[in-house]
Amino acid sequence: MNTEFYAQIIDAIVDDGYIVIENALDTAMLTALLEVAKSEEMAFKKAGISGAGDLHIDSSRRRDKIFWLDEDGLAMSKYLKFAETLREILNRELYLGISYYEAHFALYGEGDFYEKHLDSFKGSKNRVVTTVLYLNDKWDEENGGELIIYNEENNIINRVVPNMGTLVVFLSDKFPHEVLPSKVKRHSIAGWFRIDK
Ligand code: OGA
Ligand code: MN
Repeated sequence: MNTEFYAQIIDAIVDDGYIVIENALDTAMLTALLEVAKSEEMAFKKAGISGAGDLHIDSSRRRDKIFWLDEDGLAMSKYLKFAETLREILNRELYLGISYYEAHFALYGEGDFYEKHLDSFKGSKNRVVTTVLYLNDKWDEENGGELIIYNEENNIINRVVPNMGTLVVFLSDKFPHEVLPSKVKRHSIAGWFRIDK
């Protein structure tokens, strides 16, 4: 990945707090990540909602299933290496003091959604920058499943179609967002740069 690629993310975070980049990453890696997600489908677990320090399942708010990434295999290692480079650049350019990155595959089945939420509460010292990477080859817009991004005044500022290779990066405490119900299986990787240890 060249320096301009990272520079556009840094500039956008400074100017707008978020960016949506289409065809952001190498196609071979994306395809390999989708294969990992498909082959691990049985290992995906219902995702939780955290609030006031607890974590619980609430399928009225969130219906996806998740599988945490690790360094197992080339595809996940390559993706985590990309995230590590971005972590270093975010720290170097924006002094964010990010200590680590964590990410999970998410699978939204038929009818699944994630209602409007923030990834971190203002002033909470954990998730600082969110990433979402989509892994769906030729997504038909009829299938729904768009990511709707709001600003702090709760106006819609972007609708992201979950196409393979589209990468979204945003400040975790500034942008409420939701996933509209998906009519078909929807694959993504959600990740967070964190400042806790
Ligand atoms: C999340 C999330 C968005 C998406 O997992 O917190 O908001 O489009 N995901 O998958
Ligand atoms: Mn989120």
